[in-house]
Amino acid sequence: MDTISWENGRVKVIDQTKLPFQLEYFYCDSYQEVVDCIKRMVVRGAPCIGVTGAFGLALAAYKSKATKTKDLILELEKAKKLLASTRPTAKDLFGALDRLMEAAHKGGSVREIRKAMLKEAFQIKEEDKEMTKRIGKYGAELIENGYKILTHCNAGFLATSGNYGTALAPMKVAKKQGKKFFVFVDETRPRCQGAKLTAWELAREGIEHAIIVDNAAGYYMQIGEIDLVIVGADRVAANGDVANKIGTYEKAVLAKENGIPFYVAIPLSTIDWTLDSGEKIPIEEREEEEVLYLEGVNQANKIHKIRISPKGARAKNPSFDITPAKYITGIITPQGIVKPGELEKLR
Ligand code: MRU
Repeated sequence: MDTISWENGRVKVIDQTKLPFQLEYFYCDSYQEVVDCIKRMVVRGAPCIGVTGAFGLALAAYKSKATKTKDLILELEKAKKLLASTRPTAKDLFGALDRLMEAAHKGGSVREIRKAMLKEAFQIKEEDKEMTKRIGKYGAELIENGYKILTHCNAGFLATSGNYGTALAPMKVAKKQGKKFFVFVDETRPRCQGAKLTAWELAREGIEHAIIVDNAAGYYMQIGEIDLVIVGADRVAANGDVANKIGTYEKAVLAKENGIPFYVAIPLSTIDWTLDSGEKIPIEEREEEEVLYLEGVNQANKIHKIRISPKGARAKNPSFDITPAKYITGIITPQGIVKPGELEKLR
């Protein structure tokens, strides 16, 4: 199943705000709708955001009324700025938008530019899907029969453009290899990507799992119930520091304290070579509402939002945190597994 596709001149995405309750698609007719989709997290997960951004910019080219190349480029610069303003942490978005603009700047007629941009968007998508298989192949070697694995947030196929995803890829490949293992799924408040999306994906694959509240991971580590942690990332600095969903840092510290290997699975598009340390990664702060309310289905199976806090309560909602490289055992990439301090080898 692909999370993003191009259908009759529109961008089609799986609406992740409806999962696991309804599997629905959302169609974007304009790049502004793509902007809205990324902001509202109809699509989410770093690689998926990148590929969606790429198709969004191609859509801007196709929808433009410009007849002169110069005018088209001006419109594209404006669209790029808007798409880039949606989510600040995931590196993949910026890399994908740059690649699309490079394709546009190669020149030609308006028609040729449009075609070149769409071709580049498809190329990024194919590379993305391919990398998930390679991450799966290398990462599966870490999983032994009988292992209990912890994961945080959703870094499955929904977080990429399809296939295996990143952190879930080793598990999906290990399952195909006939290995038996169990996955602890952090619910991942506030938006519950673990409880909603990862649990849905693992169930589809027939992988045994249980959802735990975010606060339970330390307990399970302490009593020897977790053998391995694998998470994804939104941006990795050149020194191996990792930005990932809020709560990742504390899981990594607890893993080290309990002698549990902690791995991060990423495509190379997630690495930000311009940053020498994770402290420089911008951390997205999202709406208070995500903390103050919860969304699920009611007895009539209708998606419903409820308030779980006093009226007028305030909240703080940092979406990501930084895990320093010293807590990370290894980084699983499409080129193999490297130590965080050895990322440079992949440059
Ligand atoms: O806020 P989200 O849902 O976009 O955050 C997603 C994550 O933090 C994932 O763990 C990360 O993007 C890796 S996805 C392959």
